[in-house]
Amino acid sequence: MKIAPSILSADFANLKNDVEMTTQAGAEYLHIDIMDGHFVPNLSFGEPILRAIRPYSKQVFDCHLMVDNPEEYIAILADAGADVLGVHYEATPHIHRVLQQIKEAGCEAEVVINPGTPVTVLEDLLEMVDAVLIMTVNPGFGGQKFLPSMLSKIQALNQIKNDRKLSFDIEVDGGINSETIKQCQQAGATIAVAGSFVFNSTDPIEKIQLLHKVTGD
Ligand code: DX5
Ligand code: ZN
Repeated sequence: MKIAPSILSADFANLKNDVEMTTQAGAEYLHIDIMDGHFVPNLSFGEPILRAIRPYSKQVFDCHLMVDNPEEYIAILADAGADVLGVHYEATPHIHRVLQQIKEAGCEAEVVINPGTPVTVLEDLLEMVDAVLIMTVNPGFGGQKFLPSMLSKIQALNQIKNDRKLSFDIEVDGGINSETIKQCQQAGATIAVAGSFVFNSTDPIEKIQLLHKVTGD
């Protein structure tokens, strides 16, 4: 499984070191949580931070936009070095248009759904996305408890993916640790975000390696 450490839980005073550490540990992705204090009740960081860390990593920069009016940020985040842009279904009445805009900006397009949103709303989008992110906590904060009821949503999405012979990634985000990651993998997830499990540890490299190990990589 591909592992995406979330820098939301990194040491912001030593961000370059933490980013380089995740590369050294073998993490293929870096998860970058952009919050605006409106779509979610928290502020994190934005384009300048993305641009600042880009020279220090060749990882896939996986940007999770927890913002209202996401269409206003696509071009600038693409320019700053985003590889994947994930937009919440709930954040715009024009999700199809925003996903098109992401592709036109040269990035991979990902649609994200909150725990309260069913997979059925994705039906007409699955042919055009590179990935779907199923939130396994309510977005806004690191360190929350994994919601086990999301496993059936991952399974349902994976079933549709197989039935339609599609190849998009299924990403999970929130409360991922060495136990919950296995459950998500069994349900069909292919990318796992991990924030506090990695960075709130005295040995983050060992934690990233553990997540790879328990998922068979
Ligand atoms: C929450 C963010 C997550 C967060 C995950 O809104 O989208 O990416 O960093 O943190 P943990 O792994 O601690 O649940
Ligand atoms: Zn996230």
